[in-house]
Amino acid sequence: MNGGKQAPRILVFGDVLGRLDALFKRVQSVNKSNGPFDAALCVGQFFPEDERWVEGMEGYFTGEKPVPLPTYFIGDYGEGANSLLAPARKTALDLGFSMGGIPVCDNLFYLKGSGILNLKGLRIAYLSGRYIPDVYQNARGAEASGGHFEDDVDALRAIADDKEITDIFLSNEWPLGVHNAADSSSDPNGIDLASTGSDIAAELASLLKPRYHFAGSEGVFYAREPYINPDSTHVTRFIGVGAVGNDKKQKFAHALAPTPASEMSPLDLAARPTNTTPSPYIKGAHNKSTTGTTQKRDVSQMDKANEENVQHWRYDTSQGKRQKRNDGGDRVCFEFVKQGSCSRGETCKFKHDLGNGVPIPKGACFDFVTKGRCEKGADCRFKHSLEDWGPAEKALPPGSCFDFFRKGQCERGSECRFSHSLDDPRPPRAPPSACWFCLSSPNIETHLVVSVGDHCYCAIAKGPLCPGHVLILPIEHQPSIVSLPSDAELELDKYKHSIRECFKKQGKATIFFERYLQLRAGTHAHLQAVPIPLSMASLALSSFVSSAKEVGFSFEVIHQEDNDNEAKQRLKELVGGGVNYFIVELHEGTLLVHPLPQGEKLPMQFGREVLAKILGTPERGDWKQCKLDVSEETALADQFKEQFQEFDPMP
Ligand SMILES: *[C@@H]1O[C@H](CO)[C@@H](O)[C@H](O)[C@H]1NC(C)=O
Repeated sequence: MNGGKQAPRILVFGDVLGRLDALFKRVQSVNKSNGPFDAALCVGQFFPEDERWVEGMEGYFTGEKPVPLPTYFIGDYGEGANSLLAPARKTALDLGFSMGGIPVCDNLFYLKGSGILNLKGLRIAYLSGRYIPDVYQNARGAEASGGHFEDDVDALRAIADDKEITDIFLSNEWPLGVHNAADSSSDPNGIDLASTGSDIAAELASLLKPRYHFAGSEGVFYAREPYINPDSTHVTRFIGVGAVGNDKKQKFAHALAPTPASEMSPLDLAARPTNTTPSPYIKGAHNKSTTGTTQKRDVSQMDKANEENVQHWRYDTSQGKRQKRNDGGDRVCFEFVKQGSCSRGETCKFKHDLGNGVPIPKGACFDFVTKGRCEKGADCRFKHSLEDWGPAEKALPPGSCFDFFRKGQCERGSECRFSHSLDDPRPPRAPPSACWFCLSSPNIETHLVVSVGDHCYCAIAKGPLCPGHVLILPIEHQPSIVSLPSDAELELDKYKHSIRECFKKQGKATIFFERYLQLRAGTHAHLQAVPIPLSMASLALSSFVSSAKEVGFSFEVIHQEDNDNEAKQRLKELVGGGVNYFIVELHEGTLLVHPLPQGEKLPMQFGREVLAKILGTPERGDWKQCKLDVSEETALADQFKEQFQEFDPMP
């Protein structure tokens, strides 16, 4: 949804090969039948193979012939390229930059090197040229022969670190391996997909995670099924486009009207078509290739596969990302970490050690080496320890957090009872004995407990909003529901299901909510369950949304089905890793999620107050108004136990 604004309409063409008349003729005819369009983008080789075609281009470059639509091209190689582009290259030098395209004449723009073009809100990354090893580190040589220059590739590696989502990526060459994990029934003929394309285009596609990736140079049209990107919610569609005016009936003009990612809701961005596949750019992806099947695949499995195998094509850009690189400074050589050797040898501008002569161990994870942490955690196939590259069982100091040191991260964040620093060995922090919710605590009010499982238990809420207001809690002192270990999470889901069924039998809908605030003293996770009349269930969404608006925040909405791993994944993305949050789960499963930025306060009783209003008892929003004595609490617990008996997953 983008507020009724028209999405930009774009035409993408394959290799033009100097056939500008044919190109613009097609632009006009498509514009008439399907237009109007805002711009044309050209990938693949723009200049001809045969110098006889050069003459036909000159009229456009001199401005004699009009260019009918703003047209952007990469692929600055072929006959006549250097002479026709010489004035534009000089302009580029004068301008000092060329990110948005260098005007060649009215409406024709040369996308030189690499960069980001902003086109009507679309963020378009481009890499001109081909990978030619001989000129890769030679700016002049690269320019003269239409090759990539290393700096251009580095610039995109750095850009890939930006938070903004790249809508479109243009490369001349196909990414090597794009066909991995794809359904081969849509393969184009006459091309060996397994060996087609360039490593650099593949690396950048996997780093930039564009929503659309267009490339030319192969003379065929190929629209791959969308694939998932590790660590992000949106899918990528790769489209190889044929050469303009080709006589092999290969499609060479592709029209699209994508809403810019910056104007899309997270939910729309996360949409995954049923034919979505894992990323082709992960090791072992080709083993998972299926032939001719279109059935819905298990998306959670794919995410897992992606996480397990993702290649670490990270480049350390933390320092001086924006400034022009003269030397590698403090940066570690990516190639060296990845391969254990570097083709530049002694002349390499980047470090081949960790400083002070400490060698970079073989098989080290680049993220871990350069940033001190790696988001892949235990699933990373590279090594995550700097001191010992032997068996992982080597002793850690007492009190160290196993997750943190063995897996590279710990979801409990600063709530973790174990040490996250080798400099700070400490005995495990015992759960505070004053915790009301620890089953082992002397303060636990056992008369409130209504069911106990292996990892979770249920209890009547103190000062309940209404009869049936219960809590589900982990037995262990865990800070939040989102950070629960998987066995506890599984049991929690069982309890939720049972409580829903129990209230359903009474003609009621169940609303769950949780507020998580990281406290110095530690919190004990508790998920609240409140039954409301079924007739009120449809009101809950608007009540929560409008109450939030009054207080000054809004919810991220996640729709989910039973055991929806995709929704869980999304939830962890939003509020994993120790972020404070408030979450509501509505009757039909929809999640309303509000991550609380550091320092943002939410009224203590927010969830309770909204539900109190829905129930028609706004005064009960204040729990102190609802305090009961022990005998009343015991009676409520007994009543609930009786109703819950037939649904209790832990009879
Ligand atoms: C495309 O069509 C619109 C009207 O539909 C027209 O105004 C515009 O000039 C056309 N552009 C080209 C390049 O033909």
